[in-house]
Parts: sequence; C-alpha cells; structure tokens
Amino acid sequence: MRLVFLGPPGSGKGTQSKRLVEHFKITHLSTGDMLRAVMTQDTEIGRAAAQSMATGWLVADALVVTLVKERLREPDVQAGFLLDGFPRTVEQARAFEEHLTETHRPLSGVLELRVPLEDLVTRLAGRGRKDDTPEIVRERQGIYRQKTQPLVDFYRQRKLLFPIDGLGTSDEVFDRIVETVQGLKP
Ligand code: AP5
Repeated sequence: MRLVFLGPPGSGKGTQSKRLVEHFKITHLSTGDMLRAVMTQDTEIGRAAAQSMATGWLVADALVVTLVKERLREPDVQAGFLLDGFPRTVEQARAFEEHLTETHRPLSGVLELRVPLEDLVTRLAGRGRKDDTPEIVRERQGIYRQKTQPLVDFYRQRKLLFPIDGLGTSDEVFDRIVETVQGLKP
C-alpha cells in the first residue's frame, strides 16, 4: 500500500498516520519530522529546515525531493508507505510521480483530510510546537491554500483522490480512513 496524506496544518495527518501505519504495517514518512531531525545540522538542508520552521515557509522543492527519494530507497519502505506532508507543491508532486513511474511503484491513493479553518486554528493553539504561534500558523495556512491545495485537483484528475471528513473524535476519523483504505487496490 502506497499512500499520501494531504491536508492543512492541524488537520490530523500526524495523529492518524501513527495509527494507520501500525494498522496496515507500512512505514510512516513525515517530511516535517525528517526536516525537524536535520534542523540542527550545519548542512544546506539543515539550515533551510531551520529557516522554514522559524517562518512557516516551505523548504525548497529540490531539497525535499532529494530527501524523500533517498528515503524511498531504504528497505523498510518497500512493503509500503504513508507519506505525510509530501508532496506539498505541484513541482514536488510532478517529481514524485516521475520517480514512482521510474521505480514501478504507483500510488494506491491520496487521502485528503478535510477540516474547517476555525477548527484548525483551535487545534494548533492547543499543541504548542515551535511553529504553532498564531502568526506562523496563519502563514502556514496561507501557504497551504496557495501551494498545496492545487494538489487536490492534481490527484483528482488522476482518480487517486479520496476526501475524508476530518471532524469528530480521533477514533471516528481513524475508522473512516481505514474503511477508505480497505477499498483501495494494494
Ligand atoms: P509538518 O510537520 O508536515 O506540519 P504541517 O503540515 O503543518 O502539519 P501539522 O503537524 O501542523 O499538522 P497535522 O495535520 O499533522 O496535525 P496533527 O496530527 O499534528 O511541516 C512543518 C514544516 O516543515 C512546514 O511548515 C515546512 O516548513 C516544512 N515542510 C514539511 N514538509 C515539507 C515539504 N514537503 N516541502 C517543503 N517544506 C516542508 O494534529 C494537530 C493537533 O490537533 C494536535 O494537537 C492533535 O492532538 C490535534 N488533533 C488531531 N486530531 C484531532 C481530532 N480529530 N480532534 C481534535 N483534535 C485533534
């Protein structure tokens, strides 16, 4: 099973990913977690990640695409993966699509978690991550609408998009996603 999680900051991608990868025995790949892990390194990607986290802006496409492609070569992702936070721009989606075609690994589906803006703001205010200040959250939401929202159409055109209502308890959302994923081709 090769899945992508699409959804604005605070929609519950990280929360649901942790449960889904256990349930479906696949690997969780979060570009946010990967970037937070390299942030303290004095490397091009480390410096870019630190700057992005401080402003809410996206890390350059080429850097993130390289990071993901390298990770996709590792043995633990061969049985399947759930990508959380990638792709995030049309450029990333095109590069990713090309890579999947070259490696003969088509996507099983793209899960779009839908949550109204006012609920997103409340959820993130209660979490307290470094980039969850009201200003940075506003910036991240704006960037999502501008850069990532177009991927909804991108994947809809490819008949890979599966919208999911992200409101309700974590268990309710989880059950909806499991039902959707069970209906996909592996
Ligand atoms: P990333 O770490 O991917 O953050 P994000 O997309 O902004 O998503 P969040 O982690 O904020 O939200 P989430 O949807 O995972 O929600 P969560 O489950 O945590 O990216 C961070 C930064 O890294 C970016 O801004 C960018 O700079 C950089 N980056 C990452 N990927 C990149 C890429 N591909 N290209 C370029 N740059 C990239 O839940 C949020 C809160 O809600 C939690 O407190 C949770 O407990 C609560 N919650 C969850 N579910 C529910 C529910 N059902 N009801 C009530 N509360 C809930």
